[in-house]
Amino acid sequence: IHVYACNRSMERVFFNADGEMLIVPEQGELTLVTEFGIIDLEPQQIAVIPRGVRLRVELKGASARGYICENYGALFRLPDLGPIGSNGLANSRDFETPVAAYEDIDAPVELVQKYQGGLWTTMLDHSPFDVVAWHGNLAPYRYDLRHFNTINTVSFDHPDPSIFTVLTSPTDTVGTANCDFVIFPPRWMVAENTFRPPWFHRNVMSEFMGLITGAYDAKADGFSPGGASLHNQMSGHGPDQASYNSAVNAELKPHKQENTMAFMFESRAVIRTTDFAMNSPSMQLDYDDVWSNFEKGNPHA
Ligand SMILES: [Fe+2]
Repeated sequence: IHVYACNRSMERVFFNADGEMLIVPEQGELTLVTEFGIIDLEPQQIAVIPRGVRLRVELKGASARGYICENYGALFRLPDLGPIGSNGLANSRDFETPVAAYEDIDAPVELVQKYQGGLWTTMLDHSPFDVVAWHGNLAPYRYDLRHFNTINTVSFDHPDPSIFTVLTSPTDTVGTANCDFVIFPPRWMVAENTFRPPWFHRNVMSEFMGLITGAYDAKADGFSPGGASLHNQMSGHGPDQASYNSAVNAELKPHKQENTMAFMFESRAVIRTTDFAMNSPSMQLDYDDVWSNFEKGNPHA
């Protein structure tokens, strides 16, 4: 998992031999020039660049930032819908692949590849974006998260949060993905007799969470767009005190959760932090204080 921030377009060309890349912009529009054509990408859209596909990223504005998930496992695909049936969640009709586009430039360009965690470079004598046509079914694609058909309870309690899965990279063990990409979009909350925010829990998956816009319903304070939280497997977590207090005191009438787009990269693998992340000046060293003032007992008992 990477966080990117940039203020210049790329002059070199890049490809990732280690895995496919799921790009989640949080600020700034990007133009992704690929061998398959051009993808325009803005916040609340995502793009997936397959392993090995040549890429040049251009900025449309002054700067951009966001998140990238590198997937080393099975290719991202739509989750099985089970009893949901033929339609729901992210619908295949909303995934877009670029039409072929090419540039015919015989000038030197540096090609950087990421391979086995290292960066390697070579010089080409021409632009690699010289593909005039293509066919096949392994291509870069774009999806607009605002098209997600969100499914949730219309009676009580919570379905498993896997109901919010956009894309999954499955493993041989059902229920423990190599990576699930999950979103929490604007939606109606109608559950009766229910504590509506995400419950307090721990689980076998590691959860990296980011925020694209607005606020997240389990973190009233201290979670900004562009930020991130990490709860590795079996680390207990849940709503902060302010979110809990407002949830238990709220009248349980239908309520529209608006102005929000949070996401998770969930994995059965342990997510190890980098030195860069651990030494960041914006690290919240008091993060767990949000759970320090809960009182014993049920205030509604
Ligand atoms: Fe969680």
